[in-house]
Amino acid sequence: MRSYTRIVGTGAYLPEKVLTNQDLEAMLDTSDEWIRERTGIRERHIVAEGERCSRLAEVASRRALAAADIDPATLDFIVVATTTPDQVFPSTACFLQRRLGIRDCCAFDIVAGCTGFVYALGMIDQFIRTGGIKRALIVGAEILSYIVDWQDRDTAVLFGDGAGAVVVEVGSEPGILSSHLHAEGAYTDILQVPGGVGDRTRNSYIEMRGNELFKVAVTSLSDVVEETLKANGMQKSELDWLVPHQANFRIIQAVARRLKVPLDRVIITVGEHANTSSASIPLAFDLAIRDGRIRRGQTVLMEAFGGGITWGSVLLVY
Ligand code: UT7
Repeated sequence: MRSYTRIVGTGAYLPEKVLTNQDLEAMLDTSDEWIRERTGIRERHIVAEGERCSRLAEVASRRALAAADIDPATLDFIVVATTTPDQVFPSTACFLQRRLGIRDCCAFDIVAGCTGFVYALGMIDQFIRTGGIKRALIVGAEILSYIVDWQDRDTAVLFGDGAGAVVVEVGSEPGILSSHLHAEGAYTDILQVPGGVGDRTRNSYIEMRGNELFKVAVTSLSDVVEETLKANGMQKSELDWLVPHQANFRIIQAVARRLKVPLDRVIITVGEHANTSSASIPLAFDLAIRDGRIRRGQTVLMEAFGGGITWGSVLLVY
């Protein structure tokens, strides 16, 4: 009998502090109207000073574990997708493991920009389907406010902080149907934080060529969505829900239009969360499960795009 990876619990965490477009108007040469028209963003959540990525991950994880009614000690694997780890090393996944009070499971981080959560889900699916492991915690957690240059209106208005988590386990009922993961290193410089290990002179904040990225995003996402449907012999009309990465409402709209998915079948959180990178899909997914939109047995397509550049999709039956 075929084994599947099934999502058995979800959880999310958004920091309490909300920064609105009006707040940004007081800090930068920008306007609520520009931000809403170009991006769909109205507000974003920002961490309290000193908060760490593993702390956001912990709250989201505990909620996902509670929803699944699972003892964290039974996890085989913890993966954290993040671009804003607590430290260069150890991994945020190891800090999360410590926070959860568990020992001796595999734990590491994935860096794939905003596609990190989709990469993690796709990769863990391989471990589970081949029988290597039975149960895993997958988290997308980001504190982008730490790597945003608050003087730069091109990027400061776009990002937010948050975390989302899922618990997955092996099952015999359909779960993840396929994942499709891509990267194109030729585009490393269109979205990046140049500063890093070995060079203290380079900028350690987000740099983005937004216009170029926008075009590549729409093309890549449309392609990966077609690839996913084809691989599964599915028609566009068979999708119940699209859960896209939340970078820009206009990108989401363009991909939904190409897919012929009406916007009321797309989970959209960019207005309230802004772009939370690898946290955006698990945050949106958790919200739509908890408010009753996404139900058991429905088909969900997740798709993401981000720095690298990376892009990918996961098709699943919830
Ligand atoms: O998470 C994955 C990666 N991220 C993305 O996928 C983001 C992709 N890109 C985008 O979402 C859009 O390109 C942006 C939202 C970043 C920008 O929207 P745009 O429609 O591409 O605007 P633009 O960059 O062409 O800028 C238009 C104008 C410029 O002024 P001029 O040169 O026309 O006079 C900018 O200087 O808007 C100006 N501008 C702003 N004005 C007010 C740029 N940022 C702002 C701002 N407030 N915050």
